[in-house]
Amino acid sequence: MSPPDPARFRSAMAMLPTGVTVVSAARPDGPAGATANAVCSLSIEPMLMLAALDRGSRTLLAVQAANHFGVSVLHAGQEQIARSFATKAPVAEKWDGVAWSERSGIPAIDGALVWIACELRDVVAAGDHVIVTGEVRDLATGEGEPLVFHGGRYRPLG
Ligand SMILES: Cc1cc2nc3c(=O)[nH]c(=O)nc-3n(C[C@H](O)[C@H](O)[C@H](O)COP(=O)(O)O)c2cc1C
Repeated sequence: MSPPDPARFRSAMAMLPTGVTVVSAARPDGPAGATANAVCSLSIEPMLMLAALDRGSRTLLAVQAANHFGVSVLHAGQEQIARSFATKAPVAEKWDGVAWSERSGIPAIDGALVWIACELRDVVAAGDHVIVTGEVRDLATGEGEPLVFHGGRYRPLG
């Protein structure tokens, strides 16, 4: 059986609606963060989160160096943040004009629907990505609707 081509794989999986997060980590000279939807809860006992980050992600380097990472689940009104954190703009520039706070030593996007702080546990190479898991150390929840990504577009829920 010959495998389907990567473009077909990509567009097939674009049919799976997901939430949109910013995975973040502290660096000595400021925060790092990337838009990520390959993020999920993994285990309850112990409480673990999972994120898959591209091998070339600068945020991945920051996560490994800091040994901690944060997951900010974006609110429906935070599409501009999702767009900006999906770029390769200079790491510090991504945070310009973005309201954020340091929580448990990790940068968090203000106004996010959910905030989860993790201590890095596993780093597993997987194809062109690296799977990181983290033990949940802190969390906070807000109110409102999530930002959704589906069919290559940002959408509000419903
Ligand atoms: C909706 C959306 C979801 C994304 N999900 C991921 C993801 O799960 N993992 C990842 O490594 N990159 C993902 N990306 C791409 C990164 O945001 C992008 O490569 C970014 O430039 C990485 O920034 P960094 O190098 O500063 O870490 C996603 C992009 C978009 C628009």
